[in-house]
Amino acid sequence: MKIINIEEELLSEGHPHPVKIDKLDEIYGRENCGLKIYDSLVVDKRYYIHDLVETAKIQNIFAHYGFAPRVYDVVKVLINGEVKYAQVVEVIEGERGAKNTKYEEARDKISQYALKRGFYNRDYDPSNFIDDKYVDFGGWKFPENYKEQVQELVGTPPYQNIPELGIDGPRENKERFDRYNLDDIFWGGKTVLDVGCNYGTLCHEVHRRGAKRVIGIDTPSMIDSASEITQYLGHFNVDMDPVTIQRDDASNLSRLDIKEFDVVFHLSVHKYFGLPQGVIDRCKNTLYLEIRNHEKVDEDCLDKNFKSVNKSEIYDDYGPRILYTCKK
Ligand SMILES: C[S@@+](CC[C@H](N)C(=O)[O-])C[C@H]1O[C@@H](n2cnc3c(N)ncnc32)[C@H](O)[C@@H]1O
Repeated sequence: MKIINIEEELLSEGHPHPVKIDKLDEIYGRENCGLKIYDSLVVDKRYYIHDLVETAKIQNIFAHYGFAPRVYDVVKVLINGEVKYAQVVEVIEGERGAKNTKYEEARDKISQYALKRGFYNRDYDPSNFIDDKYVDFGGWKFPENYKEQVQELVGTPPYQNIPELGIDGPRENKERFDRYNLDDIFWGGKTVLDVGCNYGTLCHEVHRRGAKRVIGIDTPSMIDSASEITQYLGHFNVDMDPVTIQRDDASNLSRLDIKEFDVVFHLSVHKYFGLPQGVIDRCKNTLYLEIRNHEKVDEDCLDKNFKSVNKSEIYDDYGPRILYTCKK
């Protein structure tokens, strides 16, 4: 868990409501990050750290459908020598309470979704809505069968391995991470794009290794499941974004708020949409390109765009494959 040193003056303007703190924007590679500080964690231990993590997961599952602002992390903050627990959250503006005309419609949509997933039915206090977003998941708990619900999101047979959910896909994670030499990169502070991320296994791994910001893209139906899995596993600062790439055309990557990523994964997706120039242009440093051995890659194009291109031998991992590791 990160410990962030914050000067109290940065909070005083809006506390207890989160206000934007530039230092957090830098740490999380985003705009409009603020802190939701849980004073009671220090004062009377009414909340436990587990609850902060669980409510962050639940909030982010709702955030994917536009029902809530995001939580980007659960941290310790050091404020004038005192340690408190906090969530790093997306700061949003809008109407609260009696003036909020969007509240009733939003409440109905959220409660419908909550009931569908088996969350406890509750009273929704209008003052906990900012415009159409619910901002206080304090006290929420996952229903007992939630892990099974998340497991059911994964298709059969699954492509990736998700050990945390007991999902055994054909491609062994450790073997893959070793093959890609993930240990060769210092991931702290890195931005990463995973094109055709599937359930997000690679995104989770580099986030675990300290990447600052990770975006996985895939088709919309895949991304709904990937987002839920990602948040359920607690990878708060990973975004799962529904982007369908057209063959040799990555122009719809323009919606992403990062223009160049330190590392781009383009793994076993070449057969679906080739390697669009737009993906190469998004890469600042390293591109991992994995193909099935019979696919034709434009190697001249790789040589033109990268300073070094390392082509592996053919290896067998759920079929014969080749890995190109390209550095700019
Ligand atoms: C073989 S899987 C590879 C997944 C992942 N890259 C890996 O290596 O573990 C191919 C992935 O590409 C995604 N995909 C296929 N066509 C796509 C498209 N046009 N745009 C975005 N994603 C696509 C699929 O949904 C699937 O998750």
